[in-house]
Amino acid sequence: MDEIAGVAVARADAELREILARWRAAGESVALTPTMGALHAGHASLVTLAKTRARRVVMSIFVNPTQFAEGEDFEAYPRALEADVEAFAAAGGDLVYAPAVAEVYGEGFATTVSVGGPALAGLEDRFRPTHFAGVATVVAKLLCLARPDVAVFGEKDYQQLQVISRMARDLDLGVEIVAAPTLREADGLALSSRNVYLSADERARAPALHRALRVCAEAIRAGAPIAPALEDARARLAAAGFDVDYFEARRAESLASVEAAADGPIRLLVAARLGRTRLIDNIGVD
Ligand code: PAF
Repeated sequence: MDEIAGVAVARADAELREILARWRAAGESVALTPTMGALHAGHASLVTLAKTRARRVVMSIFVNPTQFAEGEDFEAYPRALEADVEAFAAAGGDLVYAPAVAEVYGEGFATTVSVGGPALAGLEDRFRPTHFAGVATVVAKLLCLARPDVAVFGEKDYQQLQVISRMARDLDLGVEIVAAPTLREADGLALSSRNVYLSADERARAPALHRALRVCAEAIRAGAPIAPALEDARARLAAAGFDVDYFEARRAESLASVEAAADGPIRLLVAARLGRTRLIDNIGVD
């Protein structure tokens, strides 16, 4: 098995199972932090949170082809395994699982997890219709393989978090899904592996996304009607040079539509494009 910065890197399911079995036999609890690599401080914060919830922390690093549609950035997605394992080691993690595509999707692979509820909320799914089936399938596989006590996911991908929480409950996967708060740059931009795609000019304009969320949340909290508050936020973003895919207010868990603040707790969710980079973000209102 490979080792980088003192952390073992399992490439094969059998290697992962062997180490996990040893930990289990010693009575140690396990947390899983699934990622696609290109780690930043946001991922390190998942590990920090995971360490408060379990004795051992495993990170999967796998750029999952089935959650990318034709023409998306699967090939271009940043890959830096060595630096990732070093960052994971520095954050205090115990084991990396970094399989090849053929290890995850073996010959004849023919099963997909079909997700509904929050996966069909008309947000990301409207623009990436095959995305959540790919996410749910790979996450279900990772959870079945590692059988962790807890699995930690970032709130940055808020719809994904709700889809996975729903799936874990519906399929009795026996794992607690833990949400980690979004980490932000000083100017409010949410940390994301895709921020590296932003040009200098786009990077300077990007914090407008979080500002628009904050202003809109404050307006709704202060009693403004939801529909005009959302319209105002969309207009602000358009004026800042964004192409807005959606800017919506939804029920925090089901992601169903809301008409009034009384329908809460409410989450505001946005996706918008700056040049060729698509940014997503969200914020709680209550
Ligand atoms: O959020 C991500 O990085 C991915 O969607 C996940 C959960 C690791 C599944 O590939």
